[in-house]
Amino acid sequence: MESKKLAGEKAVEYIKDGMIVGLGTGSTVYWTILKIGELIKQGLKIHGVPTSKDTEQLAVKMGIPLLNLSELSKIDLTIDGADEVNPRFDLIKGGGGALLREKMIASISERFVVVADETKYVTTLGKFPLPVEVTQFGWEITKKQIERMGQINPQLRLKDNAPYITDNGNFILDCYMNTIEKPEVLSVQLNMIPGVVENGLFVNMADTVIIGGSNGEIEIK
Ligand code: 5RP
Repeated sequence: MESKKLAGEKAVEYIKDGMIVGLGTGSTVYWTILKIGELIKQGLKIHGVPTSKDTEQLAVKMGIPLLNLSELSKIDLTIDGADEVNPRFDLIKGGGGALLREKMIASISERFVVVADETKYVTTLGKFPLPVEVTQFGWEITKKQIERMGQINPQLRLKDNAPYITDNGNFILDCYMNTIEKPEVLSVQLNMIPGVVENGLFVNMADTVIIGGSNGEIEIK
């Protein structure tokens, strides 16, 4: 928790007055949002764009004025967490189920800062099962199509013994694979399956990675 807090709070240093800021989802960026709330009380003027309903609720509670994505064509800065980050800054995201909105918001951001604790920094992506958001309609077919790609074991995400439903009304298949050698290729292949809405591989999107260490140190990559 302490290392997530370190990384999350450090990220506010990238925020400047007047910016439109994409607000990620999860327990690391939680600390960023709390800190932004404090800075707003001290006079910082920004607008946030939330990547999930949970983040929207938290941001409202913290007094952060919000904008809808539909009102915007670009975002100055997005700060978000990750489930895994490799040295090329490719990410696995979606452990918290918000990958579609997170990717949409990151895709129009001039700068994308990732906040994570040191356990998330890996040589090769893939130990963390890759979340893939799929339509409810025909999800079983989509699952079979992913299985047919080879060496992928997709499992329907459950919550309270029922399928987990995203903010967009879709399901998530958590894809177990162990290693992802070519994230850029896998991402395109997955998105070619008609029932796939989006996958949790973020390739060539992150600009800066802030890692909080268990020794209390922060590393900026
Ligand atoms: C949510 C995400 C999160 O950013 C990711 O799961 C990391 O979360 P946390 O900071 O709680 O470890 O992608 O969809």
